[in-house]
Amino acid sequence: MNTILEVKGVSKSFPVKGSFGKSKGAVSAVSDVSFSLKERGTLGIVGESGCGKSTLARLLLRLIEPDEGEVLYRDQDILTLKGRKLNQIKRKIQMVFQNPYSSINPKMTIENNVAFSLWTNGVSKKEARKKANDYLEAVGLPRSYAHRYPQSLSGGQRQRVAIARALVLEPEIIIADEAVSALDKSIQGQVLNLFQDLKKDFNLSLLFISHDLNVVEYMSDEVMVMYLGKVVEKGSAQHIYSNARHPYTKALLNSEPSMKVGVSNLDKHQLIKGELPSPLNPPSGCRFRTRCPHATAQCGNAQLPTIEVNTGHHVACHLWDMGTGSLSQNKQSDVLPI
Ligand SMILES: Nc1ncnc2c1ncn2[C@@H]1O[C@H](COP(=O)(O)OP(=O)(O)OP(=O)(O)O)[C@@H](O)[C@H]1O
Ligand SMILES: [Mg+2]
Repeated sequence: MNTILEVKGVSKSFPVKGSFGKSKGAVSAVSDVSFSLKERGTLGIVGESGCGKSTLARLLLRLIEPDEGEVLYRDQDILTLKGRKLNQIKRKIQMVFQNPYSSINPKMTIENNVAFSLWTNGVSKKEARKKANDYLEAVGLPRSYAHRYPQSLSGGQRQRVAIARALVLEPEIIIADEAVSALDKSIQGQVLNLFQDLKKDFNLSLLFISHDLNVVEYMSDEVMVMYLGKVVEKGSAQHIYSNARHPYTKALLNSEPSMKVGVSNLDKHQLIKGELPSPLNPPSGCRFRTRCPHATAQCGNAQLPTIEVNTGHHVACHLWDMGTGSLSQNKQSDVLPI
């Protein structure tokens, strides 16, 4: 499969001001993140609250500007584009948010909500309305709903409108940021299946962001795990879920009760030890080292390698020993207080 989106070394810090406008430093929200999204593939991005998932999504859409890095859409760096060229590519990447009210206007009918972005792109009202109705049907809403207002719909139906609104611009990539997190479990399943169907019907590539590991597993071909702004592990969903290598990924998987029928990890269900460090002053080297049971003094070194443990399976843990296929025992022996 070809790569449709390639992200190289993207970083973003937000300056933080204290009282009297005095600088308190900067929050390192996304740090040196690289990944690629395959055409018609789904990459799940997972990690605890505050690890930088939404900031990354906003950077890709240029809703905010990165401090450094490249975002290549079909080999073209989005970050260097301006004006019409940028707008053309922006149409190709659409976002669906957790709260549909952030993208749909409660004062507009459902049909007009979906047609609106076409009007602003110069499509005639008649043509835009026709397309809006086609896409409302594609997301499973009856045509009779077209003239209703969003507040008369359920949460799941509103999210369907938000999806239709994203689709009507005929994107190639959809970024879904916690798109089902606010929905009841039963509705979540329906919307996830809708994403899967639409992906096939419209040849979409999906970036699927969620803090819910079960949802990400269900949706994704590939998975990227983030911790405090950094990528700690990425690989095929199969590798990550059955053979996670990074101590953080393992801890995260152990902290999530499995929803699979007949599989229960409730007995070993445990929370990750220690406090999440402040992103204002993240640990040097591996940012997980202050909570990692295997950490050594070397983990604080700034230049730590990322190891490819299997084809396409990358782990940002220098303790991984390819020879033994486990965390290196030698390196664990020089554990120093952090
Ligand atoms: N505009 C901003 N100004 C300052 N700090 C910000 C800003 N936006 C995000 N941050 C900080 O950047 C870090 C990453 O936030 P982000 O919203 O990307 O995390 P997230 O992984 O999407 O979390 P969640 O799962 O809760 O949605 C957090 O520490 C957050 O407080
Ligand atoms: Mg978020």
